[in-house]
Amino acid sequence: MQDPLRYICDDPLERQWVWLSLIIAFALSAILGFYAFANNIHPPSNVETIDSTRLHLTEEFAEDNLGVKTNADGSVTVTMVAARYGFYPPRVEIPVDTPVTLRIASADVLHGFHVPTTNMATMVVPGYISEVNTTFPRTGEYSMLCNEYCGLGHDAMWSRLVVVPKSTGGETS
Ligand code: CUA
Repeated sequence: MQDPLRYICDDPLERQWVWLSLIIAFALSAILGFYAFANNIHPPSNVETIDSTRLHLTEEFAEDNLGVKTNADGSVTVTMVAARYGFYPPRVEIPVDTPVTLRIASADVLHGFHVPTTNMATMVVPGYISEVNTTFPRTGEYSMLCNEYCGLGHDAMWSRLVVVPKSTGGETS
């Protein structure tokens, strides 16, 4: 079989180096892809837009509708707003071993949402709804941190996420 690179390059040594770089690039992509797949890491693919200045007027993100809701199939949906400088509601209780869908929107500027030691991490971009799916296998208290610089209060922007045993599950307080 003839080398397909011969059309763009005459020197065999140069072609070998091109092949070597291509193989390294593909190998690295494959390793990254495998790692992301094996650890259930995925980019936020949920493109849903929302008017961030009118969040409180929407049904889903109105103040009274924030928090944890249990769906008919037993999974829970957590609806939150990120705003300088906190997450609302400021404390969320989620049952253990239950599929969780977090839906969060920013009321002002760019924020981040990160729960260390879990796969919950997303940017909260004004104008968009961010959605993350996960399951918490252990009970315990977690911090929800803002990890995008959003202003002078950025380092004080964090809230509490509590994973509780199933029987008591799923209320906000
Ligand atoms: Cu919100 Cu940093």
